[in-house]
Amino acid sequence: MIRKAVLPVAGFGTRCLPASKAIPKEMITIVDRPVIQYVVQEAVEAGIRDIVLVTHGSKIAIENHFDKHFELEASLEAKGKHELLEELRSIVPEDVNIISVRQSEPLGLGHAVLCARPVIGDDEPFAVLLPDVLVDGHGLERNDLAGMIEAFDATGRSQLMVEEVPHELVYKYGIVAPEGEPPAAGEAGALAGLVEKPKVEEAPSDLAVIGRYALPGAIFPLLAETPPGAGNEIQLTDAIETLRQQSGVDAWRMRGRTYDCGHQLGYLEAILAYGRRHARYGEGFRELLARYSGEE
Ligand code: G1P
Repeated sequence: MIRKAVLPVAGFGTRCLPASKAIPKEMITIVDRPVIQYVVQEAVEAGIRDIVLVTHGSKIAIENHFDKHFELEASLEAKGKHELLEELRSIVPEDVNIISVRQSEPLGLGHAVLCARPVIGDDEPFAVLLPDVLVDGHGLERNDLAGMIEAFDATGRSQLMVEEVPHELVYKYGIVAPEGEPPAAGEAGALAGLVEKPKVEEAPSDLAVIGRYALPGAIFPLLAETPPGAGNEIQLTDAIETLRQQSGVDAWRMRGRTYDCGHQLGYLEAILAYGRRHARYGEGFRELLARYSGEE
């Protein structure tokens, strides 16, 4: 059963500058909480109990966000601000552990995941969540990550979450080649191949890897052997392609929506989506939206 997840957060977030100059891009706010909190919540909802942040010394705010802030809590308690206190305490449920390891050199996503090897070990499966992407499971009984982990647990086959992207954007993603018909939403299907950031004219499909993976510990020795690939970086996709050749890999087609918070318009869209339905601010936000769209 998958209970551990790796969240690589060491990158500098150049695409989010100037917002990410002095704070990690993962700490940019979507409505009332940082991007990374949604991703941790998604993992926790899917049954993950150990979260391994692969981080960098300049991004200490992320670790602080998930740590207990004793003085702040004592002060809220003294002032009787119990609702706020509960909200802070629920950021990390009591049975969830946040562990951090450092990636000392920016050698690529594959290398970042490899940094978690001493914590996960080669015998245990785990999930990877790339925190640039928010996966919105609004309206689903169980989120997409839970569905994908269930598919892994049932079959023992590695899973990559995919969604269809506009053909002209395939060069930004890992792209999969389904074996036969692509899987329907909420289902898994075997892959005949996958390639990192292909040229538009060479992409084997429009199904993109969106940054959620369920992998066996056996990926670690493969990552350790993977040479630099696209962008001269050690690519997770390349190690997964080797794994596919050895033991097969499935694509799991998601049902929800994604917001790419690795760039400005993506997080503005996420603010619109999450803001409109927010329990506390939704009504006021909808009024603002109406006013700004000229309807009021
Ligand atoms: C990474 C992965 C890529 C995946 C993408 C999803 O790329 O290498 O396969 O499709 O995340 O966001 P990055 O966006 O870090 O360049």
